Amino acid sequence: MSWQQLYESKVISVEEAAGKVKSGDRVVLGHAVGEPAAVIDEMVAHKENYKDVEIVHMVAMGKAGYAQPGMEEHFRHNAIFVGGTTRDAVASGRGDFTPCFFSEVPKLFRTSLPVDVALIQVTPPDEHGYCSFGVSNDYTKPAAECAKLVIAEVNDQMPRTMGDCFIHISEIDYVVESSHPVIELKPARIGEVERAIGENCASLIEDGATLQLGIGAIPDAVLLFLRDKKDLGIHSEMISDGVVELVEAGVITNKAKTIHPGKIVVTFLMGTKKLYDFANNNAMLEMYPVDYVNDPTVIMKNSKMVSINSCVQVDLMGQVASESVGLKQISGVGGQLDFVRGSNMCKDGKSIIAMPATAAKGTVSKIVPLLDEGAAVTTSRNDVDYVVTEFGIAHLKGKNLRERARALINIAHPNFREGLIKECENRFHQQF
Ligand code: COA
Repeated sequence: MSWQQLYESKVISVEEAAGKVKSGDRVVLGHAVGEPAAVIDEMVAHKENYKDVEIVHMVAMGKAGYAQPGMEEHFRHNAIFVGGTTRDAVASGRGDFTPCFFSEVPKLFRTSLPVDVALIQVTPPDEHGYCSFGVSNDYTKPAAECAKLVIAEVNDQMPRTMGDCFIHISEIDYVVESSHPVIELKPARIGEVERAIGENCASLIEDGATLQLGIGAIPDAVLLFLRDKKDLGIHSEMISDGVVELVEAGVITNKAKTIHPGKIVVTFLMGTKKLYDFANNNAMLEMYPVDYVNDPTVIMKNSKMVSINSCVQVDLMGQVASESVGLKQISGVGGQLDFVRGSNMCKDGKSIIAMPATAAKGTVSKIVPLLDEGAAVTTSRNDVDYVVTEFGIAHLKGKNLRERARALINIAHPNFREGLIKECENRFHQQF
C-alpha cells in the first residue's frame, strides 16, 4: 500500500476521533500552540462519554475546557506546568501538578506516566509521507513515539519545521483533517522597567554568545539591546518573534556556535504568524525533542552559552523561587534549571535570573529575607549565577552568604532596602 492510500485509510471525523478515547485513559496533549484543539474540544463538549480521563499537558494555550468546574468526574488535569487557563484548577483541587524538569518529561512518558493516547497536531505529509510536528516538537514527538494510540490533527496551516521533527504516516493511527491558523501569542508590552532589565542583561552578552531566552516582556526587552552585537546564536527551549527581527538585522547568524553551527536550535515556538512564516521550511531553524535541546550536557557544549529566565522571588542566600507564590503553584520549573545547569557547566557560560525588583504593582519586593512559606525552590543557591533587576546586576557565584546579601540588596528596589539591611544586620551580626 502506498503511503497515500495508508493516509486515506486513517482519515476519520472529529467525532469518531473523540470516540477512540476511553474512560480511564491517560491522554497527552500536543504542547502549547501545537495543541490539537478540535479533538479535545469535542471531548469536552461530550463530557458525559468519559469518566476519569487524565489529561496531561504543560503550557495549555487552548481553552483548557477539561480543567473547568463541572468536569471533575469526567476529566482530571495533570499539569507538568501551570498557566493562566489551568492555575485555578490546580489551586482549587480540580487538577494536579507533577513536578518535572522539561528535559525529563519524555522519560516520564516512557516510564512512570505511560501514555494511552497522544493527541497531536502536525503538517500534512510531504512527498515521502512524513508529517512535521511544526511549532511543538518538545515532549509531543516522544509522547507520540511511546503512546498506545496516536491521533493526529493534520492542519495545512501548520508550518513545516525541520530537524528531528517528523513522524511518518505509518506511525499515526488516526488522522483528523483541519485547516486553521496556529494559535498566536502577541508580543508582551515592554515598559521602562523591562527595558532597564533588558539593557542590564544585554551588557552580560558578548559577541559570539549562544542564547536561551524564555517567554515574555523581559526576553523581548533583552533582544532590543542586542542590535549592536555580532554573530549571536540561539540554542533555546523556545523562541518568539523578537528573534526573527535579529536574524533579519544580521545579528543572529549562529556562525560562532560550536554545536549546530549556522542553525537556530529550539524545541518549540510560540509567537505570531511572523514567527511561524519564518519557521516554515527554513533550514536555518532546527527543532529537536526536549530531551535533546534541554539536556544540560548538550547545552554546555555551546560556547559562551547565556541563559535568561525569570522568577517570583529570590532570598538573600540566592535561592530562587520561580514557580510558586508560597504554596500556590503558578507555573513550573519548565526548562529553567536545564538551562541554568547547562550554562553553568559551559566553560565560558553564564546563567541569568532576570526579574523586576517588585511585584503586585510595586507593593512587594521580589528580593526577600526568606521565601514565602511553602514556596518551591526552583534554582538552588548552589546553581544561581547572575541575578538582574532594573537596578543592576548581582553576580552571586563565588560569593559567600554575606556578600550575596549585600549584592542583592544593591539591586533591590530602594523602598525595600532598609528592611533588608536590618534583616542582614541581625543575621550577620555586623553593620551593612
Ligand atoms: N509576590 C506575590 N505575587 C507575585 C510575585 C511575588 N513575589 N511575583 C509574581 N507574582 C504574581 C504576579 O503578580 C502575577 O499575578 P497575576 O497573574 O495575578 O497578575 C503572577 O504572580 C505571575 O507573575 P508575572 O510577573 O506576571 O509572571 P511572568 O509572566 O513575568 O512570568 C514567571 C514569571 C516566574 C512565572 C515565569 O518566568 C516562570 O514560570 N518561570 C519558571 C519557568 C521557566 O523559567 N521556564 C524557562 C523559560 S521558558
